Amino acid sequence: MNDNIQINSEGKLKHFLSIDGLPRSLLTEILDVAESFVGVNDLQIKKVPLLRGKTIVNLFFENSTRTRTTFELAAKRLSADVLSMSIATSSTSKGESLLDTIRNLEAMFVDMFVVRHAISGAAHFIAQQTAPHISVINAGDGQHAHPTQAMLDMFTIRQIKKDFAPLKVAIIGDILHSRVARSQIQALNTLGVAEVRVIAPKTLLPAHVESMGVNVFYDLNAGLKDIDVVIMLRLQKERMTSALLPSESEYFKCFGLTEDKLKIAKPDAIVMHPGPINRGVEIESKVADGPQSVILKQVSNGIAVRMAVMAMAMQKQGAVQ
Ligand code: CP
Repeated sequence: MNDNIQINSEGKLKHFLSIDGLPRSLLTEILDVAESFVGVNDLQIKKVPLLRGKTIVNLFFENSTRTRTTFELAAKRLSADVLSMSIATSSTSKGESLLDTIRNLEAMFVDMFVVRHAISGAAHFIAQQTAPHISVINAGDGQHAHPTQAMLDMFTIRQIKKDFAPLKVAIIGDILHSRVARSQIQALNTLGVAEVRVIAPKTLLPAHVESMGVNVFYDLNAGLKDIDVVIMLRLQKERMTSALLPSESEYFKCFGLTEDKLKIAKPDAIVMHPGPINRGVEIESKVADGPQSVILKQVSNGIAVRMAVMAMAMQKQGAVQ
């Protein structure tokens, strides 16, 4: 998938579809711009006028709690007019094609689409088809990418650990079906961490996963040694077409993160999870709610990071000074 359409002729972000191919300088700029937006959450009136007069449409063809709401909040904090389409009650259910839905919304003078879709490449397709002045942000497409999730994860890591260079990061669980893992691996390698490990049973790893720039572990105890950042993933049963595991309890026994297993990582290791979490399947409650967990901090940071991405993508239109 060619994601170069993300960057305009001046090297600025136009669409945000994938981390793949984006330079470190641009990822760092997203983190820095997000930093400047964190304080907006503490204002009495939680708003800045950067995108006043712009219209943003959230098009979520797949369920979401965190991504959809933080995109909507981010757009509102930037003073944009935001519309969250309910796909279940839209004319998609009457057979209207994705392209016809887009064409009709374009006719309503939209400036940006935020798209979540079960099909890999859907956001890219829309970005190719929309009018040149419209930006498209990928809010998760199939198993391909979830770039704003990866960036809010990078923001949270930088907030706590300060420097990416010495960090050893382990991503644990269903790597095979995870768009989040793909985007995280690309972001971590672009930002120059010391090591990215994936820890999973063979059945939940893509073929040739090493080519993504990771070290592979099939044993949780071995993989957690010396780790600074532990990222847990849920089993994406909705994407599994065959039985890839004996049972959830067997999976928890081998790959579930417990307090005892977390002790193998560095004492100041942080525990992350993009959500939704499945307690007792990939993580026990004592860890999810424990002192090393930054899971809810990730959610909060999603607002500032999504504000940054939307503001930067609109820069081409002169919305940001
Ligand atoms: N992390 C994430 O994408 O969560 P939602 O599916 O709730 O948006």
